Amino acid sequence: MAKKNVSVYFCQECGNETSKWSGQCPACGAWNTLVEEVVDKTAVKSRAAVSDVHPTKLVDVVANNEDRMSTQIAEFDRVLGGGIVPGSMILVGGDPGIGKSTLLLQTCQKLCQAGVDVMYISGEESLQQIKIRADRIGKFNDKLNLLCETNLDTVKAVVERERPTVLIIDSIQTMFNDAVSSAPGSVSQVRESTSVLMNVAKGMGIAVFIVGHVTKEGTVAGPRVLEHMVDTVLYFEGDRHASYRILRGVKNRFGSTNEIGVFEMQNVGLIEVKNPSMVMLEGRPENATGSVVACSLEGTRPILVEIQSLVSKTAFEIPRRMATGCDYNRVNLLVAVLERMRDHKANKSCGIFLGRSDIYVNIAGGIRVNEPAVDLSIALAIYSSEKEIQIPGDTMVFGEIGLSGEVRSVQMAEQRLNEAKKLGFKRVIMPQSNLAGLTVTGVEAIGVSNIKEAIDAISK
Ligand code: TYD
Ligand code: MG
Repeated sequence: MAKKNVSVYFCQECGNETSKWSGQCPACGAWNTLVEEVVDKTAVKSRAAVSDVHPTKLVDVVANNEDRMSTQIAEFDRVLGGGIVPGSMILVGGDPGIGKSTLLLQTCQKLCQAGVDVMYISGEESLQQIKIRADRIGKFNDKLNLLCETNLDTVKAVVERERPTVLIIDSIQTMFNDAVSSAPGSVSQVRESTSVLMNVAKGMGIAVFIVGHVTKEGTVAGPRVLEHMVDTVLYFEGDRHASYRILRGVKNRFGSTNEIGVFEMQNVGLIEVKNPSMVMLEGRPENATGSVVACSLEGTRPILVEIQSLVSKTAFEIPRRMATGCDYNRVNLLVAVLERMRDHKANKSCGIFLGRSDIYVNIAGGIRVNEPAVDLSIALAIYSSEKEIQIPGDTMVFGEIGLSGEVRSVQMAEQRLNEAKKLGFKRVIMPQSNLAGLTVTGVEAIGVSNIKEAIDAISK
């Protein structure tokens, strides 16, 4: 067959493939993101004889969950769903400088101490640079092999020869394959590199961590396609200038997602934070207006966060609304609910007017919470700032708010109460419907069924 090269165009944002160039991606609508790639169409697809292929009965399949390898870093294991599954492919994404290389080098250190053969392939740093980082982290034994290489064929050959148990590729954007004509970091290079590594990993049962840089839009640079290919996607987030870092699972074929691991960057590398609630509440002002402690569930773990709100007279035609760390639209919705609030006992309206006020809501500590259970706390923070009422520092609040101002039940109320008790809170304002069957003692649980009752509870 004659060799036939065809040009196709890939979108750098969503990975969509088209045969013609255009200024706008027809799939995701992004502008100027299509790049040309030359695809070799001569590759012949092989097909096994169909008569040799037989399905397997589900009951005959043996799955062994015991095979997981612990990273010896509890916070990391938690996000992975209990440890590394052999042969799995894990993408660790995050902004440059957030600490991806540091975390993985520390994982190497721990795995090596447990006797695992690890190979760390870096396309970004020299051996000396890695050594300098390793010296900051601590002592390493002789189980760790380093390689500075960007050529995928070389990487593949070395991995096939050395057969490590765990392989780390830092980063996938620096890898390049001679067979693909485009530059390293482009969609087809990244996709090709990932699929080659995946074949090697699955074939030999090697667990592979790949580092991927995130663009300012928040996706792994260029190709979202990567997320579909790998087994697990973890994102390392946090403010680069603050020392706390959060490792979040967004996809996991071997465990639950939305588990988070909390770390602190220190001068000896990343240190696990065992009690994130304490960290998030650090430096909280005592008895200030507009400050409420809420409880958000991150995976299976309740974390207490401080919600701050500032309500001030606006100087503009249209008042400003700002939400940092929580959903902007949710804040707008809660403002509307506060304005239309009703006192059900007196059967009259008791809403507060916020139409001429700027409203700022902030979650302290740089964490993002998206759970509806923080609704009641956000609403109370806004109310507290507007009315200049202090909410006692020993009170924690949680509950979801419905459009008519009712406080709805949330899941795992008992765990939230226990977390409040652990951190010395005396009182918890929570949904009435969650009260039944609670066995936690030592904290006063105040059940409320609508937002007015919650306001009465804090105003006392
Ligand atoms: P790095 O892990 O290289 O980030 P990434 O691989 O995600 O780009 O480094 C993160 C930052 O952390 C870097 O600016 C230096 C800093 N750092 C410390 O503060 N303490 C340490 O012990 C180490 C190793 C790095
Ligand atoms: Mg790095």
